[in-house]
This record gives sequence, structure tokens and C-alpha cells, in this order.
Amino acid sequence: MMDTSTPRNRGTTIAVLGSINMDLVSEVAHLPHPGETVLGRRFNRYPGGKGANQAVGAARLGVPTAMFGKVGTDSLGDELLDKLAENGIDISKVERESGCSSGIASILVSEKGENVIACVPGANGRVDVSYVDDVLSVIVQAKVLLLQLEIPLTTIDYLLRQLPAGRPMVILDPAPAQDLSSLFLERIDILTPNNGELFDLTGESEVKVAARRLLDRGVKHVACKCGDQGSYVIDHEHTYRSSPFLVDAIDTTAAGDAFNGALAVALAEGKPLKEAICWANAAGALAATKKGAQPSLPSREEVERLMKYGSDPCGRTWTRDDLHR
Ligand code: RIB
Repeated sequence: MMDTSTPRNRGTTIAVLGSINMDLVSEVAHLPHPGETVLGRRFNRYPGGKGANQAVGAARLGVPTAMFGKVGTDSLGDELLDKLAENGIDISKVERESGCSSGIASILVSEKGENVIACVPGANGRVDVSYVDDVLSVIVQAKVLLLQLEIPLTTIDYLLRQLPAGRPMVILDPAPAQDLSSLFLERIDILTPNNGELFDLTGESEVKVAARRLLDRGVKHVACKCGDQGSYVIDHEHTYRSSPFLVDAIDTTAAGDAFNGALAVALAEGKPLKEAICWANAAGALAATKKGAQPSLPSREEVERLMKYGSDPCGRTWTRDDLHR
């Protein structure tokens, strides 16, 4: 275990409150239907969890990042914390919870790179309001706060009500999708569903119509991740679209988390929304070109290279190796 007693002294730009999981990943030819058994081709374990992935995604882009959440006192917890620390993330406020395991995600990835995920929250489920009281004074110092829905919704709701107006900027990934009240939505600066989550949240089936429903309920901006259709950011005045980057997608796990980490970094650095959404889109596309959650998250150099060369209209499909040639 690394020594976590000394917080980094660079200050925190991005704060992430959320889940920290170990991903147990089976590669299969196709995702099974209910009741069907399929033979796996390969098994791997990767550090994951939407919260931890978003923290690693931001940190790899070179911005001081702090993680808030809980792991168990088991050996998985040691491993998960070591991985966060190796990425330069401040883990001084991550607590160890005795009497429960660290979070686990069972993941199936198909030959097409699609996945299904089932999470058992473990220690993530113990991130409660008293933990928020303990860490609030640190979280409010960040420029951007990244949230997802793999810790209890009551905890996130409580945190949102404690935050002073306007700081930090709140980006919430509504995954896994849950019903969210208008009072909750009003406190979100940018909501970042994928198109499936957007349709689940609104009952609509068209991105711009669904996004407007959420804007009418108080969200300030909706950034919708539409996979190989690119991404949108929509507010009451503007709709910006970032076209998809042509990449060789082999595993889409954590592509959405890469998007959120990069969006937070771009906005913390003062990039306008129109540019930030392209950055985020590039990071998400790159994450799909490598297996696993945290191992797939791109560096700043990779994102910049894809931005530079990947918009080339030659129709070429980029692999991760191409970017290093
Ligand atoms: O977004 C991908 C993540 O979702 C995985 O790493 C898994 O842990 C689940 O939280």
C-alpha cells in the first residue's frame, strides 16, 4: 500500500465523489440473452468504477484531481487505492469501510466492443451524509465536481444542497439511470447521459427533444454521449455537436467516464463549451480503443493527437498505436 497520509500540495482542480470498483471482465462472442449461457474467451480484472474512472481520466490529462468515496478493508481496496495513487490522484480523503467488501462490477464485453455491467456497491453503498459533512470543506475548493449515481442518491442529493451557489461547477453522469427530481436537476450545471439514459430519464426518443425536457426541469446544460454518432451539448440557446472520431472500438467500457473526465478538465482550463465537447468526445473515442476501464483512459498527448489528426476527412479509422507513430 502506498502512504496516503500526505495530501498532494498542488491543490485540487477536479473533485470526484463516486464509486471505486474492481471490474471482473469476461470477453464473449456475443452478449447472452436472458436464460442463455455463453462460453467466455478470456477473463481479466481491471480497476474501475465510474467515479474512479472519471478521476483517472482527469488526472491523465494533467490536472490535480482528488477522489472522494470508500473502499473496503479487503485486499481489493488496497489494489484500487494503489492504482488511483499511481495516477497521481489525491486519495487522502478516501475512507476504508470495515465489514463490507470493496465495490465489484461484473462485466461482459462482446466481440463488437459492447458491454453489459452489473455492480455490487459494497463500500460504495456506505458513502453517506456524515462522510459528506467530513469532506465538504475540501470539495468546495475544487473548480469542477464530478458525480455519478453509483453511490446512494440520498448522499448526492444532500451534497448538492450543501454546495454554495456557483462553486464548484457540477457535472453529473446519470448512470445508472434513476428518477431524478426537478429540485435535484436544478442543482446540476451539466448532465451527461448517454442517449439510452437520456431516453430513460425523459421517456422521449429524440436527443434534442429529450434534452429540452431536462432543460425545462432546471438542468443548465445537457451533454449527450451518442457513441459512434458523436456528442451534443445543448442549452436553452445553443446546440453544439461534435462529430464522431473514427476509431477502431474494441471495448467501450469507461468511454463515457473518459468523456466526463476530459469535459471537466477542459472546462476547468477555461475552454468554451463548444471546444470542451470536442475534447471530451476525443477522450471517449480513445478509451474505446483499448481494453479495460482505467487502462484505456487516454493521456493528454493522445487526446491532442486525435484532435489534430483524427478530424482529417480521409475516412481513416484510428487505432491507439497509430497515434504513437
Ligand atoms: O463506466 C464503466 C464502469 O461502470 C466500470 O468500470 C464499472 O466498474 C462500472 O462502474
